Amino acid sequence: MDTSLAPAPVHLGVLGISGLTAYFGLLDVGRPEPGQTVVVSGAAGSVGSIVGQIARIKGCRAVGIAGGPEKCAWLVDELGFDAAVDYKADDVADRVKELAPEGVDVFLDNVGGEILDAVLLHLARGARVVLSGGLSQYNASETRGPSNYLQLLGARASMIGFLTPDYAERYPQARRELAGWLREGRLVSHEQIVAGGVRAFPDALLKLYAGENLGKLILAVAVGDSGA
Ligand SMILES: NC(=O)c1ccc[n+]([C@@H]2O[C@H](COP(=O)([O-])OP(=O)(O)OC[C@H]3O[C@@H](n4cnc5c(N)ncnc54)[C@H](OP(=O)(O)O)[C@@H]3O)[C@@H](O)[C@H]2O)c1
Repeated sequence: MDTSLAPAPVHLGVLGISGLTAYFGLLDVGRPEPGQTVVVSGAAGSVGSIVGQIARIKGCRAVGIAGGPEKCAWLVDELGFDAAVDYKADDVADRVKELAPEGVDVFLDNVGGEILDAVLLHLARGARVVLSGGLSQYNASETRGPSNYLQLLGARASMIGFLTPDYAERYPQARRELAGWLREGRLVSHEQIVAGGVRAFPDALLKLYAGENLGKLILAVAVGDSGA
């Protein structure tokens, strides 16, 4: 870990797997072009918060989907997203239609389920739906598939999954570019560090599913802490 590049926690966020997932998922798989509209779900989480910022760096319009007014305000006011949809209060399909009247060009989906179905209704021609993850489905007893998948047909769109380790050979190049954007102040890294050591792991993990994190959630563990 090169701490001259950035402090250690940033190497778990923007310069770690979250930043790399955002980088390759958006740029290589989503292939956004300047002026296009990029929508990201789980937008106030670790990956999503970086996706929207990279979309802005690339000259796209960035719309985030997150839970609650505070998270939505954070995305717009602190991270520079163009707009945010509060999926807990808004009708997601209606708001996406309003915010992307020409349709969504790239949807980077971290959540799946109802949110994926809502965005599928408003795809631009040739849209790329990038499956990064399915947070709403990981603990579901029955997986909900996308019932609006036929929208891909009319939009001549594609839906594609990816795994970040497939890009391992290019991690150094991606890290250099991400670190450059951090240095230039074009990318904000946000880590939320919780104390408590190994014993606090279950509570820290549950925070992710309860939406209690902003950006990268990190559990601080002291050297020698075995949780015993
Ligand atoms: N493809 C790959 O190689 C790869 C690599 C790394 C990670 N991933 C995936 O990327 C996704 C995001 O990871 P992350 O580390 O950014 O997550 P994270 O920081 O843990 O973000 C979690 C956020 O997602 C939202 N969320 C949780 N459950 C939800 C639900 N049922 N419906 C809607 N939103 C929900 C919550 O925010 P709200 O308050 O907004 O609900 C929560 O704060 C995950 O699915 C992960 O598996 C993929």
